[in-house]
Amino acid sequence: MCGIVGYIGKRDVAPLLLEGLQRLEYRGYDSAGVVITSPKATGLKMVKAKGRVRDLEARVPKRFTGTTGIAHTRWATHGAPSDENAHPHLDADNKVAVVHNGIIDNASELRAKLIADGVEFLSETDTEVLTHLIARSDAEKLEDRVREALRHIEGTYGIAVLHADFNDRIVVARNGSPVVLGIGEKEMFVASDVAALVSHTRQVVTLDDGEMATIKADDYRTYTTEGSRTTASPTTVEWEAESYDMGGHDTYMHKEIFEQADAVDRVLRGRIDDRFSTVHLGGLNLDAHDARKVRRVKILGCGTSYHAGMIGAQMIEELARIPADAEPASEFRYRNAVVDPDTLYVAVSQSGETYDVLAAVQELKRKGARVFGIVNVVGSAIAREADAGVYVHAGPEVCVVSTKCFTNTTVAFALLALHLGRIRDLSVSDGKRIIAGLRQLPAQIEQMLEREDEIKKLAQEFAEAKSMLFIGRVRGYPVAREASLKLKEVSYIHAEAYPASELKHGPLALIEPALPTVAIVPDDDLLEKNRAALEEIKARSGKILAVAHQEQEKADHTIVVPKNENELDPILMGIPLQLLAYHTALALGRDIDKPRNLAKSVTVE
Ligand code: G6P
Repeated sequence: MCGIVGYIGKRDVAPLLLEGLQRLEYRGYDSAGVVITSPKATGLKMVKAKGRVRDLEARVPKRFTGTTGIAHTRWATHGAPSDENAHPHLDADNKVAVVHNGIIDNASELRAKLIADGVEFLSETDTEVLTHLIARSDAEKLEDRVREALRHIEGTYGIAVLHADFNDRIVVARNGSPVVLGIGEKEMFVASDVAALVSHTRQVVTLDDGEMATIKADDYRTYTTEGSRTTASPTTVEWEAESYDMGGHDTYMHKEIFEQADAVDRVLRGRIDDRFSTVHLGGLNLDAHDARKVRRVKILGCGTSYHAGMIGAQMIEELARIPADAEPASEFRYRNAVVDPDTLYVAVSQSGETYDVLAAVQELKRKGARVFGIVNVVGSAIAREADAGVYVHAGPEVCVVSTKCFTNTTVAFALLALHLGRIRDLSVSDGKRIIAGLRQLPAQIEQMLEREDEIKKLAQEFAEAKSMLFIGRVRGYPVAREASLKLKEVSYIHAEAYPASELKHGPLALIEPALPTVAIVPDDDLLEKNRAALEEIKARSGKILAVAHQEQEKADHTIVVPKNENELDPILMGIPLQLLAYHTALALGRDIDKPRNLAKSVTVE
């Protein structure tokens, strides 16, 4: 969703900002804009365009020079995608420019008041009210003008403000939408996502909610919205600029699928404790005494992270014998859930920004619950809000649809389940067995990815389907859910996931040659039951693709997956289906990294 990038220093700012915007493109957006100035300039120069960053670039005039600027990619919320609604927004005197991520809840009320006072609006956005509020303040300092304006605002924001009369600085503020400062040599950056600045500096300061900052070329200052100074020391971002490049692949999705063996290696690294057949999770902050008091685990996440949570819940039940379940955070936050002090709540999010998950975490904390985060992006909002947690160390994920983060999140859950299990009733030998299984994962992933050509051929057939059914039972069911989501997100083929056990209670009515079924058939205690489901489908002339540990006689094709421990099998079984979704989408000519209507980080309701 929306992205912010800003720069102040000595370099020519427009190309820097455009490059930053390109690095934010993966988040999803529908228009973009840039405003610049320089210490000697008397005003602001702005260009905006509906469409892609390249459309904006095409509009930038030759003489568009300056050394300070802010830019934005917008995902429409208030008002359709258009040149006028694109950010930045300027006041009537062209002095104040604002870019904003988030939503101003009381925008219509503020707009009505401003209009009654004679202010003319040029856009339909909520952001423009902020521009006019800042412009109307007569406080001496820009910081105070911004602060005064923010006092009227209800809602979420990450903002950057440029003012023609204070062109030695950019003022930024955060409340619910990330703002990161990038500290350079006699130059400073600001962005809503480190992706936009890691090619220039890896020294960053992440603002907290309720914090503001002034950045100048050679200095920055952070303070609260009330004005008291805060101390924020820079930290070093682990991710390197190259991790955001395509690295010889045609799409990020392909690259990220193929990074999974390395990514899994990273989530395991330094965490296995062979002496006690358990794992160390440094960020967990849960001693054995407290861990024994946990009576339930409730996992919250959205989209793919929710599915990873479903797999995690099963692992926790199996290995730690603690009742566990997963629920979409988007539902949980609205149903006035009973919050129980003996439940451990786990918030799962790749980006650490998903608003529904963040809101669920805040609601839980308000009610006194203990919340863990399982998050990929270090220092993100959910990671900061959670009491403790586990980073999944998948590296940056750029493709809108999640692959390597899903896999790493399921591995992180296996670690958590093993940790809780070994504090409770999981035996040393079972601990050893799971550890051996975890260690096998990277090589098994490699093995599976070698089957790409076979899956590509299958995808040519599936690309003709109008709809597909995915089935799995118990451990296989969340795998089926995620595979079905992956296919629909990226290929736009309708897909539905069902527990195999529920086939006869409805979906059998759909079975016919034109509706292919993908069945997850692990070699576990439910193998015979799953085979019976395949028989039922075959008897009705349904076409079957099985993902299994051995050839399935009733299936038209079986993708044979390496066997791991029963509890860990779900981690591997989804991987060939990521490739199936990818190649089906490719065969259909889809925009794989940026599927229509979807955003990587959904930072609004
Ligand atoms: C969006 C993305 C999904 C993702 C979900 C949760 O809907 O399109 O791919 O699974 O958000 O994202 P998170 O960053 O919280 O894991």
